[in-house]
Amino acid sequence: MPQSKLFSEVTIPTKSGAGLQLRNRVVLPPMCQYVVAQRDGIPTTWQLTHLGSMAHGGFSLIITEATAVAPEGRISDRDTGLWNEEQVEAWKPITQYIRSHGAAVGVQLAHAGAKASTYGWLEDIEAAGKVGSISDEDGGWETFSASSTDIFGLKPATAMSIEQIQKSVQDWARAAQRADVAGFDLIQIHAAHGYLIHQFLSPLNNQRTDEYGGSFENRTRYLRELVSAISAVWPEDKALGIRFSGEDWLEGGWRLEDTVKLAKEMYDLGVRAFDLSSAGIGAYAGPTGPGYQVPLAQAVKQALPEDAFVTAVGAITDAIQAEQIVVTGQADGVSIGRAALGNPQWPNHAAQQLGAKKAYPVQYWRGRW
Ligand code: FNR
Repeated sequence: MPQSKLFSEVTIPTKSGAGLQLRNRVVLPPMCQYVVAQRDGIPTTWQLTHLGSMAHGGFSLIITEATAVAPEGRISDRDTGLWNEEQVEAWKPITQYIRSHGAAVGVQLAHAGAKASTYGWLEDIEAAGKVGSISDEDGGWETFSASSTDIFGLKPATAMSIEQIQKSVQDWARAAQRADVAGFDLIQIHAAHGYLIHQFLSPLNNQRTDEYGGSFENRTRYLRELVSAISAVWPEDKALGIRFSGEDWLEGGWRLEDTVKLAKEMYDLGVRAFDLSSAGIGAYAGPTGPGYQVPLAQAVKQALPEDAFVTAVGAITDAIQAEQIVVTGQADGVSIGRAALGNPQWPNHAAQQLGAKKAYPVQYWRGRW
C-alpha cells in the first residue's frame, strides 16, 4: 500500500526558519465549549480533558475554541479568554499537557464584535427560552462593530471610533503576548464566521465612510493592522495562522476572489497557516454536503507560495475522503471538527485504515485493538 500523505509529517514555516513540525496533517479546528461557568474567561478542567483527549487521539495540531482578546469580544459569557494573567496561568497546564502527548497547540484568538453578548448554544439556556442577545438583567454588555447594522438580528452594536479600533488592535497584540507565555505554538486569528474582523471585511456589514470602510484596502485595514501588531510581538520561532470565511455566499458580500487577494497580503505579513471556512454574515445561502468548502482551500492554496499550510474544513468525516483531499493537492491538511467530537480517536482510526504508522497512545495500544 502506498504511504499515506495525510499521515506524513509537515512543517508550518516560522520567521526563525525552524518551523512548527506537525506529526501529520489532521488538525482539530476551534470549537467553542461554553463551559466557563464562572464567566471569567478562565479555561477549566473541561478544556484540559477535551483538548487532551484530542492529543491522545492523534491530532497533530490542536486549536482551542474561540478565545476572546477582550471581555466585550466574547460570544457568550461562558467563553474562554486571554485578556488577563489569571487566564494565562490556567492555559499553561493545558498547553503543556497537549504538547507532552506529541501534538502542537494553537489558540484561536477572537473578537465577536456585533455577535458578542449572546446566550450561546446552550441547551439549558435555550430550554429556558433565552436566545440571541443576553438581556441587561442577565448581564448583557455593549457590543462593538465596524458599523451598526441589523444584519445579525441581535441588539445593535456601537460603530467603533478610530480610537476604539486602535485600542482593539492593541488588545490583539497583548493577547498574542499572553498566548506566548501560556505556551501556545501557533495563533489562529479568527477572521471568519461573521465575527468582528469579518464584520470589517464584508461590505454587507461594513458601511463606514472613513479609512476603515469602502474600498477593499480600507475594509481590510483593521485586519492588516492587527496582524502587524501581533507579528511584532509573536516570537519568531512560533507559527501564525488565520481562519477565513472564504465566501459570504451572498450577492454584494465578501467573495472568494477577495479572500485570495487578502490571503496573499497575509502571507506577505508572515501568516503561513490558512484554514478556509465560509459564511457567518446573514442567513446561510451556501452549498452543503461532503467537503463543501474544499474548493475555497484549493483556490487559496493555488494562489499562495508552496510553503503555506492550507487546510480544508467542513463535512470531512472519512479517512479516504481526507486522504484524497491532500493527495490531489486541494489542501495541505484537513480540519476535522464534529467528527472528532464524536470520536476523539478519529486520527488514530484513520491512520490504521490508511495503513499508516499506528499512533495510538501506548496505554491504549496495550489493549491490542
Ligand atoms: C464550531 N466552529 C467554530 N469555528 C471557529 O472558527 N471558532 C469556534 O470557536 C467554533 N466553535 C464551534 C463549536 C462547535 C460545537 C462546532 C460544531 C463548530 C466551526 C468548526 O470549527 C468547523 O469549522 C465546523 O464544525 C465545520 O467542520 P466539521 O464539523 O464539519 O468538521
